[in-house]
Amino acid sequence: MEFDVKSGSPAKQRSACVVVAVFEPRKLSAAAIDIDEVSGGYLAGILRRGDIEGKVGQTLLLHSVPNILADRVLLIGCGKERDLNDSTYRKVIGKMVSTLQDTGSMEAVCFLPELSVGKRDAHWKIKQAVETASETLYNFDQLKSKKDAARRPLRKLVFNVTTRKELTESARAIEEALSIAEGVKLTRDLANLPPNICHPTYLAQKAQEIAKANKSIKTTIIDQAELKKMGAGAFVAVAQGSDQPGKLIVMEYNGGKSGTAPIVLVGKGITFDTGGISIKPSEAMDEMKYDMGGAASVFGTMTALAKLGLPINVIGVVAAAENMPSGKATRPGDIVTTLSGQTVEILNTDAEGRLVLCDALTYVERFDPDTVIDIATLTGACIIALGHQVSGMLSNHNPLANELFDAGESSGDRVWRLPLYDEYHEQLESPFADFSNLGGRPAGTITAAAFLSKFAKKFHWAHLDVAGTAWKSGKAKGATGRPVPLLMQFLIDRAGKQKRK
Ligand code: BES
Ligand code: MN
Ligand code: ZN
Repeated sequence: MEFDVKSGSPAKQRSACVVVAVFEPRKLSAAAIDIDEVSGGYLAGILRRGDIEGKVGQTLLLHSVPNILADRVLLIGCGKERDLNDSTYRKVIGKMVSTLQDTGSMEAVCFLPELSVGKRDAHWKIKQAVETASETLYNFDQLKSKKDAARRPLRKLVFNVTTRKELTESARAIEEALSIAEGVKLTRDLANLPPNICHPTYLAQKAQEIAKANKSIKTTIIDQAELKKMGAGAFVAVAQGSDQPGKLIVMEYNGGKSGTAPIVLVGKGITFDTGGISIKPSEAMDEMKYDMGGAASVFGTMTALAKLGLPINVIGVVAAAENMPSGKATRPGDIVTTLSGQTVEILNTDAEGRLVLCDALTYVERFDPDTVIDIATLTGACIIALGHQVSGMLSNHNPLANELFDAGESSGDRVWRLPLYDEYHEQLESPFADFSNLGGRPAGTITAAAFLSKFAKKFHWAHLDVAGTAWKSGKAKGATGRPVPLLMQFLIDRAGKQKRK
């Protein structure tokens, strides 16, 4: 799909469709008024007859509007003008795209960026529109034997901005959004793949393909035997129960000055989580293929980053393993030595994410990172605490937490911080090892992060628990691509700050 920006008059667009807003109750937007005047009150007449009220997401597709050069005019309801906010703006863009896709227009000129969405500027409105459009058109049919392609698919969307001076920033917004959209798509594709296809070796191959396709990325794979030799006892304890060997995947992107301390992203890549010997109940266990959602977001972010060519150094690390029960699997009560040298009593083999991540966190110390962010579908408790709307965030550094919070607010891929007070460490105490991997039911998301924090003392670190946000269950089951938009916004902001330094 192609995107562009222009600045022109709605009545003069030679296009298959022009999209303009109607507010509640039956009130035309500026672009709609323009069309109304040129067409001799055609739209006002329709509103008077009550065909569209202007409620959020309502649509009315008109053909042959008098004196208008476009074949069609799509009226789209945006609710009360003063109530228009980030989420209704996205909703309306999504509705517009699905309507265009389902009707005959293969290209359209959209005047929705003229609307005021709080204090959002043209850059934000265009970026969000392009990301939302790409997300709306996503479908995963790789494994269907018959694809149901749209008969007349939407090929090109042009966004109209009010002033010509907004054109430059809008073009940059499209560029950013297209790279993010590509990253989101890769993340969704990887996460949606079934666990018999997407195993640790598959992910390692994917990382090598990414390095081949992007000159700026270098990939290294560390296999299970090497990890064992290195002393990554916690990682190996998880991987050893499976016939699929575990892999630590390292993707290095050097867009910044050489020698600048990198930002490291660490993804939980459990390609299937049965729980191991502490086996999970079978209901909805298929969804545990999404337990590599954090890893998938690292892949997506690395490709988006390379496509955009941001002038920073970023290293993506994926801890890929399959958590299976077998004769070789770790037992509850086993004690292992982590790569850091600290010992862990594994009381529950289903708390495996923190075990693979803790060794990955120790591993990345060698890069002397400026910042480390891990991304993991780590705890069911995070869904209880925050639901599916926002991701959990925990951090040992307030400025980093604030940067991530801000990136969440502007990208719409939001996070909410939970506390990491010392007292929570008490729940991890073990009579036999340095600590255990289990904190009990209270504050499950926090005690999981407290465990990780014991391996993140040497750098500024944030942990994102995406258990509630990486995928959707139910009828529209599928990966969301989160938190790629958040991570990319964070990186774009970091690259901007660097330039100003
Ligand atoms: N991958 C799960 C967390 C999860 C569960 C994410 C359901 C999304 C939906 C993780 O490995 C896990 O099993 N966590 C346990 C931890 C517990 C044993 C301390 C959990 O959340 O129950
Ligand atoms: Mn688990
Ligand atoms: Zn898991």
